[in-house]
Amino acid sequence: MKAGHCSVAGKALFSAAGKTFMTNLRSFRRTVLFLWFTTSVLHAAEKGHSASDRPPKPADQGGTFSIGPSGFLLNGHPFVIRCGEMHYARVPREYWRHRLQMIRAMGLNAVCAYLFWNFHELEPGKYDWSGDRDVVEFCRMAQQEGLWVILRPGPYACAEWEAGGLPWWLYKNDSIAIRSRDPKFMEPARRWLCEVGRLLAPLQVTRGGPILMVQVENEYGFFGNDASYMGEIRDALKAAGFGVPLFACSPAGPIRNGWRDDLFYAVNFGRDPGGAFDKLRRLQPSGPLMNAEYYPGWFDTWGSPHHLGKTDSYLADLTWMVTNNASFSIYMAHGGTSFGFWQGSDRPFKPDTTSYDYDAPISEAGWVTEKFRRTRELLGAHLQPGERLPPVPASNSVISFEKIRPCSAVSLLKELPLPVRSANPLSFEKLDQPFGAVLYRCQLPAGPAAELKVGAANDIGYVFLGGQSAGYFDRRHRSFSLRLPPRSEPQRLDVLVEAMGRVNFGQEAVDRKGLFAPVTLDGVDLGPWEIFRLPLDHSHLGRLSFGKQTTPGIAGPVFYRFEVPISSPGDTFLDMSSWGKGVAWVNGHCLGRFWQIGPTRTLYVPGPWLKPGTNEFVVLDYLQPRDPVIAGLEKPILNECHPERDVTAPKPSGKLFFVEGSPVVSGRFPQGADPRTILFKEPVKGRYFAIESLSSQDGSRSTSIADLSLLDGKGNPLPQQNWSIASVISEETTLESAPAVQAIDGQISNYWITARKDPPSEFPHFLVLDLGREEKIGGFTYVPRQGGDKDAVGRIKDYRVFVGKALVEVKRPGREQ
Ligand code: GLA
Repeated sequence: MKAGHCSVAGKALFSAAGKTFMTNLRSFRRTVLFLWFTTSVLHAAEKGHSASDRPPKPADQGGTFSIGPSGFLLNGHPFVIRCGEMHYARVPREYWRHRLQMIRAMGLNAVCAYLFWNFHELEPGKYDWSGDRDVVEFCRMAQQEGLWVILRPGPYACAEWEAGGLPWWLYKNDSIAIRSRDPKFMEPARRWLCEVGRLLAPLQVTRGGPILMVQVENEYGFFGNDASYMGEIRDALKAAGFGVPLFACSPAGPIRNGWRDDLFYAVNFGRDPGGAFDKLRRLQPSGPLMNAEYYPGWFDTWGSPHHLGKTDSYLADLTWMVTNNASFSIYMAHGGTSFGFWQGSDRPFKPDTTSYDYDAPISEAGWVTEKFRRTRELLGAHLQPGERLPPVPASNSVISFEKIRPCSAVSLLKELPLPVRSANPLSFEKLDQPFGAVLYRCQLPAGPAAELKVGAANDIGYVFLGGQSAGYFDRRHRSFSLRLPPRSEPQRLDVLVEAMGRVNFGQEAVDRKGLFAPVTLDGVDLGPWEIFRLPLDHSHLGRLSFGKQTTPGIAGPVFYRFEVPISSPGDTFLDMSSWGKGVAWVNGHCLGRFWQIGPTRTLYVPGPWLKPGTNEFVVLDYLQPRDPVIAGLEKPILNECHPERDVTAPKPSGKLFFVEGSPVVSGRFPQGADPRTILFKEPVKGRYFAIESLSSQDGSRSTSIADLSLLDGKGNPLPQQNWSIASVISEETTLESAPAVQAIDGQISNYWITARKDPPSEFPHFLVLDLGREEKIGGFTYVPRQGGDKDAVGRIKDYRVFVGKALVEVKRPGREQ
C-alpha cells in the first residue's frame, strides 16, 4: 500500500461517511426529543410493515443499513440481527462454506467475524490475505449463503487469540502503550485499518456486499477510559472507507469507560439479558437493543476442566432476546480450533487450549449438538414472514487409524543454529522471533549446590546442567528459581524457554517471551550467553535431519516423525494421551499445542489436511512421552484433567498462608451483581492482599468472586502482570472450573468459588494475592459473581481486607477471629 493512500481517499470518504453519521446523529437527537410521539407510531409501523415479508437475504445491489430510533433499518425497514460468531482463522478454508451453512441452518441471518491483525501482518507492512487468510472470499461466501457480515477488525480483539490479535513485533519497542493514542501504536493500527478498508470497504451493504456494521476496538471498557482513543479508531475506520454504522461493545459493568455519545453501543453478556439491556438503556436511551457477544459456553485453559454451558439457561436467555426483538450475536456459534501457535493466554498467565470448541452449538468439527438443534427449533419458530430455514448440511466424514509408532526421531537441541552472543539474555522480540523456543546457554563454574534465579522465564523454562535435566521454571506459578546440585568442575547451563500464547487480555497483552535478567547463581550474575533461535516455523522444521534412529540419545525435547497410511481422508482426532507437552504437525500444517495435564487430550485434524497415501505427522515433545504412539480417534477427548502430571509446576506445599497484620478495612457488601469499589482511608504498602469472607449473601457456605482488582494510591488500577495466588482456602476445580485464579483474570463471566462438593467447614474463607512486589494500595474493586440473584451462590456479604509485607502459615482451614 502506498503511504498516504488511506488519508487521501479517506478525506473524500470521510465526508460521505460523515454525512451518513450526521444524519444518524440527527435522527438520534430527534428521537430523544420526540420520543413520546414517535415510539408508539414506530412500533405500529414495525408490526404491520411489509419489510419483514422480504427474506433477510443480502442484497445483490447496494442497499442501506442504519440505526433507527428503536431498531435497525435495512433498506428503511425494521431488521433484527440474529448473528453467530465464527472466526475464519480457526477453520480451514475448505470448511468455511460448511460452517456458514450450519450457521444459517441454525436460524441465524448474520455472521460476526474478528479479523486478527497479527494473523495478517506477520511482519510490519507485509500483509497476507491468501488461502486461510482470504477474508474477502470468506465474506463473499457468507453472502452467497444468505448471511450478513458484522466485521470486527480491532485493532484489538481478545478472543483467546495470541496477544488478543496484536502483532508480536509491536513489543520490540520497549515503551509501547497498546490500545492508546501513543503513535507507536496508533500508526501501525491506522495502517492496518486502512488495509482492511482497502479490501473490505467494497463489500459493504451500500455497495451490494454483505457487511452491515463494523466494530470499533473491542471491549475497550475493560481496558481504559480514553474516549479520544476510541474516537481515533472510529475515525481511522471511516478514513478506511467504512460508511456503514460503526459500533462499540463491552459488558454492562465497564461499558461506560471511554464512552462516546457519538458511537452506537451494544452490550456483551452470558446471562440475564434484561439486566444488561436495562443498564445499557440508562446510557443509551433509544436505538436498537443489541448484544454483541452472548456466551453459550466458554473457552478452556490448560489444567482446568472443559467448560460446558447450560443449554436450558442459554435457551431461556436467547428466547428472551428473540421475543423482545433484541439483536444478538452468539459467541461462539462455532468456535473451531486455535491451530498453530495462535492460542492466547488468560491473565495473569493461564494458557488457552488448542481446541476452541467453546461448547458452542456447532462443535469444533462442525457437528450438530443439542444446543444447535434447540437453537434451530427456537429461531425457526420466530422467522420473519417469507424466511425459511435451510436444511442442516451433512457432517463431514470422520475416520480413525490404529496406533502407529514413529519411524524416526531427532533432538530439538541437536544441530543447533549459529548462536547470537550477548552479555544478557535477549527476549524473543529482540531476537526477531515470534513464536517457538529459544535456548540460552552459559558456563557455570565448579562450586557447591546453589540457587539459580531468573528475572522471569516466559513461559516454561527447561533447565539442563551438563546436558541433564535439572528442573523447570514455570510462569503460571511465577516459579523462577531452583536449586542446582554441586559441580566438581565447570559445567554447561542450558535454559530452553518455550513460549506459549501471549496473554490476550488487559495490559498483560504486552507479553514478551524468553529469559529475562537478572539471571543469578547464589546472587552472582551469569553470562555471557550463547542464544539459539528455535522458531519451529516451516524453515526450521524443513532443516530437521530425521535419520533412521527412533530414540534421540540425548536428554531434552525430541521431534518424532510418523508415516500414516490413509486411504480416504476424513476428519480425525489425534490421540495425544500418552504424550507430555508440545506441538504436532500434519503434512506441514501445525495442529497446535498439546499438554498432558488436559483437559484436551486430542488434536483436531481436519480432513482436507490429509491426503490419500502416506501422511507425515511430526510431534515435538518437550517432556517425555509415556509411549511415543499416535492414533486417530473418531471423537475428541475434551474433558480429562491430570493435575498429577503437571511436572513443571512447583509441588504444592499443602499449607495455608495468611497476611500478617490487622485488617485495613471491614464492611458489608450490598446485595446484587454490581462492582463495589472500596477506598482505604489512606494508601497502604504491601506485597500481599487478602480478602476474607465472613458470610455470604445467599446464606450458603460458599464464597465466590467474579473479579478483584486493586487501585494504586491515586485510584488507578494496579497492573497485574506479576500477580499470583499466594493461598486460598479452597477452590472448585472438579464439578466445574472455578479456580482462584479466575478471581484475577479480569473476566467477569467466570469466577472463583470455594469447593462445592467438599466445602470448607466454616467461615471465614479467604483468598490471598501475591502482587510479586511491594505496592502502594489505595483500595480495591470487588465484582460479585454475575447473574440473577438466585444463581449467584457465594456472593460475599461481610468481609475484611488485609494488606501486608509477609505471610504467616495458618494451621487450620479458616482463621481465628
Ligand atoms: C470477551 C471478548 C471475546 C472473548 C470473550 C471470551 O467478551 O470480547 O473476544 O475473549 O470475552 O471468550
